[in-house]
Amino acid sequence: MLAVDVKNIKKTFTSKQDTVEAVKDVSFQVKQGEIFGLLGPNGAGKSTTILMLTTLLSITDGKASILGIDVETQEKQVREKIGVALQDTGIDNLLTSKELFFTTCRLWGYNKSDSEKRTEELLELVGLTEAADRRVKTYSGGMKRRLDLGLSLVHSPEILFLDEPTTGLDPGSRRVLWDEIKRLRDTGVTVILTTQYLEEADELADRIAIIDEGLVVAEGTSDELKASIGGDVITFLFETEEDIIKAQQVLTDSVQEKMELRITVEDGASKIPGYLKELTSAGIEVSSVSASKPTLDDVFLEVTGYRLEGSEEPVEETPTSTRGR
Ligand SMILES: Nc1ncnc2c1ncn2[C@@H]1O[C@H](COP(=O)(O)OP(=O)(O)O)[C@@H](O)[C@H]1O
Ligand SMILES: [Mg+2]
Repeated sequence: MLAVDVKNIKKTFTSKQDTVEAVKDVSFQVKQGEIFGLLGPNGAGKSTTILMLTTLLSITDGKASILGIDVETQEKQVREKIGVALQDTGIDNLLTSKELFFTTCRLWGYNKSDSEKRTEELLELVGLTEAADRRVKTYSGGMKRRLDLGLSLVHSPEILFLDEPTTGLDPGSRRVLWDEIKRLRDTGVTVILTTQYLEEADELADRIAIIDEGLVVAEGTSDELKASIGGDVITFLFETEEDIIKAQQVLTDSVQEKMELRITVEDGASKIPGYLKELTSAGIEVSSVSASKPTLDDVFLEVTGYRLEGSEEPVEETPTSTRGR
């Protein structure tokens, strides 16, 4: 049975002023025990999709089921199967994480001694045992996200929804969360997460759907998506705007990114000398050229027509900096 089955769901927000089609047409399927990544920029419709699938928002059109249970008509049964960590939980209060876990366990119906036991287990699981008696407002961003994750696990859900679990975290804290999410998957939990980080989708997700403007524009494993581009990416770097403009006449079908032009061709490395010859004879100076296999970044550019800015790590800001991979 599928963990999640989403068929052509749609969400339209209507107010007196206007109508927003936040989700236009989203379909995907998630197998049990898999990490599924919904990758897209701000405003793509990721959170709206998660809210619909977790019964927190009504579905305007289409169908969705969790472990075969219909999301719209069997809300309560669905809620028992799922855990959710939303993007803006606003957990920022005077309680300690131990108190928060205990209260949440009680809300899910555990008795006092079971709640105490479960609290200890979960604190351990998300690495907060030592900080258990500290007020949550003193926690770092990474600790708060781990707390969110832990709280979503109280009732041992089979399916876990995480909306941008690592947004805004430093690379180290992000990696800690990735490891925790993988560990959960390895214990059989199915994870559906949203992200605007290419490297997160690439590293963490068994399968990825790229979502843009409320539509799924590509879907597959990271390798399948990369292979779908077909061939290699050749990147030419130039010194001047003028050279770029001239080079665009030679390298038709190229995509510009800062001072670079990129083209996708079969068997890239063998074609470099020919291109260089053409460019030099047109009086164009090329400062460097390289061929590489397509990255998820290239896939995103191909299917949406633009680059996913949020994926950029805060690294050096020079025109020669290419994405490190
Ligand atoms: N409650 C709402 N009312 C009106 N528009 C909304 C509402 N929630 C989200 N939107 C709009 O829907 C689009 C998708 O939003 P969202 O699902 O939050 O995207 P993401 O999570 O991918 O950043 C955005 O244009 C957003 O402004
Ligand atoms: Mg969002």
